[in-house]
Amino acid sequence: MSKAIIIYGSTTGNTEYTSETIEEYLSNASFSVKTVNVSDTDVDVFQDTYDLYLLGCSTWGEDEIELQEDFEPFFEDMNGGLSFEGKKFAVFGCGDSSYEYFCGAVDVIEERVEKLGGNLVCDSLRIDGEPEEAEINEWTQDVINAA
Ligand SMILES: Cc1cc2nc3c(=O)[nH]c(=O)nc-3n(C[C@H](O)[C@H](O)[C@H](O)COP(=O)(O)O)c2cc1C
Repeated sequence: MSKAIIIYGSTTGNTEYTSETIEEYLSNASFSVKTVNVSDTDVDVFQDTYDLYLLGCSTWGEDEIELQEDFEPFFEDMNGGLSFEGKKFAVFGCGDSSYEYFCGAVDVIEERVEKLGGNLVCDSLRIDGEPEEAEINEWTQDVINAA
């Protein structure tokens, strides 16, 4: 059985809902899944042996990209002291396309994962507005196919 962990930061609950929906879909596809709020973990989690890491973060800020506030310190610790070589990742987040940097947090997390040598298994999920189950499930199936 493949082991996956979903680590998310969410202020108004949209990325949290998305995480729970991904968890349910992966569980139904026989993954062993753990979902954690980013406030309740730290980067030592990358030393564990998950087959797949899913990172979810909403975007804030007006003129510049701001990560969801709980995710920010975790992201700061995702730095050169870590290696993601050989690890698989998928990134997702909620945003709003009326802002200049639509889902900018997803872009910066993708960039950091790749810089640390991680393998992004498929295109990231960028949700515009309210998350919908069908869109999330479709993406999660893409992740499963690619992982
Ligand atoms: C003050 C403010 C700034 C925001 N800035 C952005 C932004 O720069 N880019 C974006 O895509 N969405 C932006 N959003 C939209 C949120 O990311 C969106 O509401 C998202 O669904 C929140 O997800 P969460 O509930 O998981 O935190 C902003 C929302 C607010 C209220």
